[in-house]
Amino acid sequence: MAFIQGLFKTSVARKNIMAVTGLFTVFFLIIHLVGNLILIIPDSFFPIEFWSNVANQHDMYNAYSHFLVHFWPISVVAWILYIGLAIHVIDALLITVKNWKAHGEKYVKIDNSTSNWYSRNMGILGTIIGIFIVIHMGQFWLKYKVLGTEHDLYELVVGTFKQTWVLVLYLIGIISLGFHLAHGILSAHRSLGIYPKSIMNVMKYIGLCLAILMAVLYGIIPLIIYFQ
Ligand code: HEM
Repeated sequence: MAFIQGLFKTSVARKNIMAVTGLFTVFFLIIHLVGNLILIIPDSFFPIEFWSNVANQHDMYNAYSHFLVHFWPISVVAWILYIGLAIHVIDALLITVKNWKAHGEKYVKIDNSTSNWYSRNMGILGTIIGIFIVIHMGQFWLKYKVLGTEHDLYELVVGTFKQTWVLVLYLIGIISLGFHLAHGILSAHRSLGIYPKSIMNVMKYIGLCLAILMAVLYGIIPLIIYFQ
């Protein structure tokens, strides 16, 4: 317990933990996106003579999800992700409380002129994403991976995305994620301070492009399924 408390003690340590757990989540999100893009690949992409057991999008997605559950190294990475996400949230709460306290003190002057609205509202964006993740995991992860009440993940995902409220929820969650990443990726690299200034200038654009790309690609999955 003392070790855990010690980890969060200084603000530099807190920022570094935030950066490492955030960047690990970005890594997960890229892999997660690639897997879920199968949902919008046309069936004609799966010629039976090439993919021996896979004839269409449905088979391919279920083969991918079967692999996720039965390949043990993936389970280890998943547990690192759950713990990382929990630490990211706890750390964010600690930083927010500390900032609130600091803003209560008169001598702290806040300069908003050089920052974007989304970089000043990372806590609100993070809360929306947190609510989204809880509902999202309840819809798929809980039913398929934990309870085992659903066996055809493809049918479950496609059926879920046909509902209007789900589409709206996903678009809100994914747009919030895009803005959160637009600031988060750059901020994480800045906190870790591992690159020279010249690379950081490039990183600004790489982070922004990655955030936009992820939001667009994640967003078109429920949109295409809903309208097809
Ligand atoms: C819109 C496209 C998305 C689809 C179709 C999708 C689908 C799924 C499915 C089917 C699962 C359960 C099976 C599995 O563990 O992989 C899952 C798990 C999960 N998803 Fe998503 N997801 C999407 C977007 C997102 C986004 C935007 C986030 C984060 C903000 C996210 C975070 C997670 C997490 C943390 C898990 C649990 C991971 C695990 O246990 O391995 N997903 N998703």
